[in-house]
Amino acid sequence: MKSYESFIFEKSTPGRKAYSLEKKAFKTVTLDAELLRSDAPKLPEVYELDVLRHFTNMSMKNYGIETGMYPLGSCTMKYNPKIHQDIAAMPAFSGVHPYQETGVDGLLEIYDHLQTYLSEISGMHQFTLNSYAGAHGELVGLMVMKRWHDAHQTGKTKVLVPDAAHGTNPASAIVAGFSVVELKSNHDGTVDLDDFYAKLDDEVAGIMLTNPNTLGVFERNILEISQAIHDKGGLLYYDGANLNPLLGMVRPGDMGFDIMHINLHKTFSTPHGGGGPGSGPVGVRKDLAQFLPKPVIEKTADGYAINRDKPGTIGQISQFYGNFGVYIKAYAFILTNGEHLKDIARYAVLNANYVKESLKDVYELPTTVACKHEFVFNGLKDKSDHVTTLDVAKRLLDYGVHPPTIYFPLLYKEALMIEPVETESKQTIDGFIEIMRTVAKEAKESPELVKTAPHTTIVRRLDEATAARHPVLTYDAHLKP
Ligand SMILES: Cc1ncc(COP(=O)(O)O)c(C=O)c1O
Repeated sequence: MKSYESFIFEKSTPGRKAYSLEKKAFKTVTLDAELLRSDAPKLPEVYELDVLRHFTNMSMKNYGIETGMYPLGSCTMKYNPKIHQDIAAMPAFSGVHPYQETGVDGLLEIYDHLQTYLSEISGMHQFTLNSYAGAHGELVGLMVMKRWHDAHQTGKTKVLVPDAAHGTNPASAIVAGFSVVELKSNHDGTVDLDDFYAKLDDEVAGIMLTNPNTLGVFERNILEISQAIHDKGGLLYYDGANLNPLLGMVRPGDMGFDIMHINLHKTFSTPHGGGGPGSGPVGVRKDLAQFLPKPVIEKTADGYAINRDKPGTIGQISQFYGNFGVYIKAYAFILTNGEHLKDIARYAVLNANYVKESLKDVYELPTTVACKHEFVFNGLKDKSDHVTTLDVAKRLLDYGVHPPTIYFPLLYKEALMIEPVETESKQTIDGFIEIMRTVAKEAKESPELVKTAPHTTIVRRLDEATAARHPVLTYDAHLKP
């Protein structure tokens, strides 16, 4: 049955308006003729109540961490405390113009403190906060790597990237001017050392690793790998997307990494989604700091200064200093948690292992090693009814649960990657486990029900490939000839 709302989606009616401001309340400004538009803008003409209902209805169709559990592996969809939004919205922060350079010492101090905390947490010498996202941080980090090799005239051109890596890793290496050599992974996603040594030649400029890897497994040979790369004159890049389970436990710098990024919108609890605003600070060891992007915030005898004159820098990679509102939230998160940051890591790991152990009798677990914050099933254990990971994910929608990440990493054919995060209660996690078990049972008893899911959502199973290739971006497109 069509919903009431779908009958009246088009709400604009000529002459309606949602405001009652009088023209004389505004100062008249005379503009040059060429600046004036010739046609009136085509804006919806609606009553205030129509606008209110429209946005309220749209918000109710959304799913977010505030609606339910969001076990989207690799994305660390944790709860972002609301007080951080309030702090970031304080006029002292949100009211400052990006061009303002006097009277902003307090803001520069926050930039400096945050980069110092991130350095301490990760064992790096210095961070830039200027990059906008994890992938952007990767690019900046790889540009720093390239600049270091150029400065030392090493002539090295290749970057090793495991086949289990996130797709942004090889993309960033190529955009930064390297060629990529794919490394084989073991069954648990760790680096296959035989393949590593076979490919580690004199042209290798560095390696990009995610640790714990995208299967949630800690790279136990990291010290050996780090030694071998350094002996060959290469550098180690750490993809910090999975830093959450290591907080306060081990530091990438102590594992031998030279360059890294942190996705603040994952580990440091800033909003993640909708494409931003995000932040992917990049940290480096001491002798690489000269190559970090400008501007740099520097401590001076009487406060802080913005330094734009930085010899050696890879240049400016963002407008101003990145997404300031995002830093404020991450800074508040670090100050609020203090030494309890360790508990975040502990609970993230405990929750993931609890879910894994509670479901491994009905979902196929390819590796038995203890995981960190996430793990990957290879679909259902019983595959005789041909119910796929996609079917399971779609059926979860009927139970109001956001599905885990599916078909990534590419190591297992039916990959189903679960990351419960530390902010979910035991009751919520138990509820998720029960739903996952129910779906596994349904897959055996009534496979068609699962294969044709979802049944209760506004739209049913979509043709995702066509939707991506031929997107229909307006609600009334089907009415047009
Ligand atoms: C392992 C890994 N690396 C890199 C990225 C890219 O980060 P961002 O989405 O912030 O660009 C992601 C994002 O999910 C990731 O999971």
